[in-house]
Amino acid sequence: MMYPAIAIDGPAASGKSTVARLIAQKLQYTFINTGAMYRAVTWYLLQRGINPQDTAAVVAALPGIPLSFGKDGSVSTVVCEGRTLTDELKGQEVNGLVSTVAAIPEVRALLVRKQREYNESEPVVMEGRDIGTVVFPDTPFKYFVTASEEVRAARRAAEGITDSIAERDKKDTQRAASPLAQAPDARLVDTSDMSIDEVVACIADDIRAKLTQ
Ligand code: C5P
Repeated sequence: MMYPAIAIDGPAASGKSTVARLIAQKLQYTFINTGAMYRAVTWYLLQRGINPQDTAAVVAALPGIPLSFGKDGSVSTVVCEGRTLTDELKGQEVNGLVSTVAAIPEVRALLVRKQREYNESEPVVMEGRDIGTVVFPDTPFKYFVTASEEVRAARRAAEGITDSIAERDKKDTQRAASPLAQAPDARLVDTSDMSIDEVVACIADDIRAKLTQ
């Protein structure tokens, strides 16, 4: 059975991860951060000495990447050879190269297939860049969560993370394969002047209203 997925997309540091996690908790759905999957592929390539900029080498390595998925409560985790990846995925090197890897159509095809499989066994809140446009284009629950560039840069800085979000957003928006975009039927949520609780309430109310329609 396919459950109606909750699709949450948006640029880097828009607050969408935090919001998606809280909404998943509220609904008792599984939270899936698809950025972690693209990051895990990037991390694995770097570990193996494969240049993420060498598309042919990345495509050749794809079938052998031993990625699987686990769960920490209601949060989906990415596992590589028995190791749950967490801090490894947030490093500066991964930040700098993940958008290059994510622009490769073969990488996207592999991960999108895995993302869709999730929704066959359980209801999910899935967060990323192309969830409403490509992964689950038919779901009625689509949210595009954003914030001004200044607010997003300040949020990243407050986390103490060096991350060139403007550069990543540019690459993610301009790539040919599944670029970052608001689906025409997605609801836009600008979080620049909203608290996390307000954003969660706004989206949760919308989901409830649609469920009771
Ligand atoms: O969400 P997060 O910032 O961790 O995502 C890291 C990168 O993964 C993005 O900048 C983007 O290049 C890629 N990504 C993607 N499609 C998704 C999720 C993430 O291309 N659905």
